[in-house]
Amino acid sequence: FTNEELYRPNLHFTPNKGWMNDPNGLFFYKGLYHLYFQHYPDKNVWGPMHWGHATSKDMITWEEQKIALFPDEKGYIFSGSAVVDVHNTSGFGSLKNPPIVAMFTYHDAVKEKTGAIDYQSQAIAYSLDEGMTWTKFKGNPVIKNPGIKDFRDPKMTWDAIHNQWIMVLAADVETNIYRSSNLINWELVSAFGKNLGVHGSPWECPDFFPIKVEGSTEMKWVLLQSINPNGPNGGSATQYFVGDFDGKTFTLGNSFANDLKQETAFWVDYGKDNYAGVTWSNIPDTDGRKLFIGWMSNWEYANKVPTENWRSSTTIARELKLLNINGHYRIVSLPVKELDKYVSKTIKRDLLTIDKETVIVDKSTVDMSRLDIHFTMNGLKDDNYDFILSNKEKNALHFGINKKDKCFYIDRKYVSKTTFSDEFAKKISKAPISSDFSSIDVRIIIDKTSIEVFYDNGKTVMTEIYFTDKPMDSFSIAKANTAFELKNVFIKQLNIK
Ligand code: FRU
Repeated sequence: FTNEELYRPNLHFTPNKGWMNDPNGLFFYKGLYHLYFQHYPDKNVWGPMHWGHATSKDMITWEEQKIALFPDEKGYIFSGSAVVDVHNTSGFGSLKNPPIVAMFTYHDAVKEKTGAIDYQSQAIAYSLDEGMTWTKFKGNPVIKNPGIKDFRDPKMTWDAIHNQWIMVLAADVETNIYRSSNLINWELVSAFGKNLGVHGSPWECPDFFPIKVEGSTEMKWVLLQSINPNGPNGGSATQYFVGDFDGKTFTLGNSFANDLKQETAFWVDYGKDNYAGVTWSNIPDTDGRKLFIGWMSNWEYANKVPTENWRSSTTIARELKLLNINGHYRIVSLPVKELDKYVSKTIKRDLLTIDKETVIVDKSTVDMSRLDIHFTMNGLKDDNYDFILSNKEKNALHFGINKKDKCFYIDRKYVSKTTFSDEFAKKISKAPISSDFSSIDVRIIIDKTSIEVFYDNGKTVMTEIYFTDKPMDSFSIAKANTAFELKNVFIKQLNIK
């Protein structure tokens, strides 16, 4: 197997060539989902940032397009967002052909070297051909640096509730909230988060949007807030806050504020490899979903993972929902339903009793490199429930539920290629188990070099990458102290179109 055959995923976006980090400029328009991304096309490590571009009809199969934005004399093109200016508020287009407007951070690497701190500012560009080519605005920057070193990653949203454009921006240890009527002139209206959630380094890549509480008409606002380092398992991760927004100020309600006294932060994903994720703009009301995609890597080792022609992939696109669980607001996420269209074969088992190590599926029946596995576990006690993805070379990825120690976990120590970074497999990644249960729903997406595990219908998510010597060829479940049941087991082969 070449490195390319072994490692390039089937159903996740990777750049054809070169480096990728954060997803940028996500918008939906005329049947296409657009994904721009932090990109250095010339090397497989981070460098002068461009915005790469890809499009998809379903957020699963991507077609890479020409590079959208190149660095220039004002700086590298750092992370940002894009919106469809339907009413042509910016005047860059017309009502008949609305402009797409992107905002990004100019990172002036030359100025940075002089020791100045005001080298990040916000700039805009617009597209009159549905996102394929872009013109940078002549009056850039639209938001100058106010003397804050880390001042970046603008995420714009149309706020239909207050009839305004809003934008959130990571400003050192806070998130600034701005508003605008024309996407060009921006007014700073508030800042959020100084002593809330996890800090210790600047915040990055915020996203801020209204979302309906499932099963009710109640509307809340959610702030996604990435941070690196200091994620729950080291390095990069994305926390979230739930509260209310009056058009200017974001405040946490009593419920979420109290929850933050019990736990330092709530995370979109507890695995090590889901960072800088944000949501798509301009999703039609008739759809109404909050659609999210993250960068499936971690700054601890992203530049060193053992791929050659390209580096990094996105997570599977996910739908975010907000639940009110006995008065506690929680974000849950599951793969987008579009993934179901890729199922080419389903193996179903109604009931399995696990009283010894049991192979659930192996390569004699399916291609282990792209699977969607779903089951319910019943009869769980205070025990350790260990799942193993392995091959004949004795590469083994362990993950599962340690009810005794009250955590979900992933352990990639035994997956062979781990020495490229000390941080990669040093510790077992863990997510807290906060409620007692004897039954739980588990969904696992496997795609060659990644595992995405959704417990309890997406209430706890863990995403991690791994690098094997040979493809994995078996998925099994270890024996626990007392027998337990797997019910409604669905093993779905995912097809590549
Ligand atoms: C997050 C980040 C952003 C920045 C970009 C640079 O991963 O550090 O804050 O805009 O990457 O590539």
